[in-house]
Amino acid sequence: MKYDFDTIIDRVETRSTKWLKFDDPDILPMWVADMDFQCPPEVIDAIKNRADQGIYGYTERPIELTSLLQQRLAERSGWEIDPEWVTWMPGVVVGLNVACRTTLSPGDIAMVPSPIYRPFVYATDNMNRGMLKTDLINVQGRLELDYESIDELINEDVKMFFFCNPHNPGGTMFKKEEIKKLVDICEKNKTIICADEIHSDLLFETNRKHVHLAQTNEYAANNSITLLSPTKTFNMQGLPCGAAIIPNPELRQEFRRNMRGIAAHIGVFAYTAAEAAYRHGEPWYQALMEYLIENRNLVRNEIGKIEGLSLYGPEATYLAWIDCSDSGLDDPSDFFINAGVGVHRGDYFGDNKFVRLNFGCPRSRLEEALSRIKKAFSQRN
Ligand SMILES: Cc1ncc(COP(=O)(O)O)c(C=O)c1O
Repeated sequence: MKYDFDTIIDRVETRSTKWLKFDDPDILPMWVADMDFQCPPEVIDAIKNRADQGIYGYTERPIELTSLLQQRLAERSGWEIDPEWVTWMPGVVVGLNVACRTTLSPGDIAMVPSPIYRPFVYATDNMNRGMLKTDLINVQGRLELDYESIDELINEDVKMFFFCNPHNPGGTMFKKEEIKKLVDICEKNKTIICADEIHSDLLFETNRKHVHLAQTNEYAANNSITLLSPTKTFNMQGLPCGAAIIPNPELRQEFRRNMRGIAAHIGVFAYTAAEAAYRHGEPWYQALMEYLIENRNLVRNEIGKIEGLSLYGPEATYLAWIDCSDSGLDDPSDFFINAGVGVHRGDYFGDNKFVRLNFGCPRSRLEEALSRIKKAFSQRN
């Protein structure tokens, strides 16, 4: 089946967060991480069918949802999980916050790599817990962990490490040896790791598989909280549903206790969508990845031609973290937005010399955005 990723669909009418951001209707919104594509047709049909029944009362999890996830993980990355390990929750950001509550007592600290998707930082703050930043190092554009600094900074008060793999905003798809090195440092200090792997299906390094942190060794399995979700993969962020995978029973029980009464139940349509996506979404997902890699290549080629800008990868995600530090611009985000390209401001992630551009959109729109960027840079004096 041929899927249509080219048609431009109006999203303002549905009060899309992405499309309501900029007052100027001429600015192309390319910031928050959702794509301007319809999700798999089977998901749309499943939602319509469920809607037709007309009663939207309290609803239990679809019987096979966990086993569908279990199957997907085994097939894609060889991670064999026990269904018992899975806790469903209404979104991954909920999981970041609950992980803080679970692993950190007042006075304890989470170590957070920077730059990072801001809700990691908010989670520590929301829970009145401490936060210690470790700067990622830029190795020819690839953002990598600074093991020396982590090893030096980590101490007995650092009870949790927030790991984002693939990384948002940098797009790094960490390799097994890299993850293992982090796990070893955490093991020495008895630090628990919360691994947000929400982007782990959106990979461009096709010669490698995603490595789940919990797969690397026994310490990692017993001392980790892995957060996953079908919503990024299948583009259904408005139907919040995520999973926390926690092999350690005590940690899992504490996590569940900390969610109780605070995390809302998962919506009828979110469950329906998650099940349909895992069960039927594979052909759509394969077609999506083919489309996205071409978008990724286009962004890389065109940005690479502009003096003062550079872009590595991304190895994963549909987010391009564009380095503007050689551009001489004081505020690169303003410059892009004034050129009509509504990027996500770099300072939201902790580095105002970068902008983040979401290329999960029809090719013609991406071409228009790139041409606006090129024109604006060529007209600079
Ligand atoms: C790393 C990361 N975690 C979590 C989320 C959001 O998760 P949710 O919408 O399920 O709360 C995002 C969205 O962009 C993300 O990039």
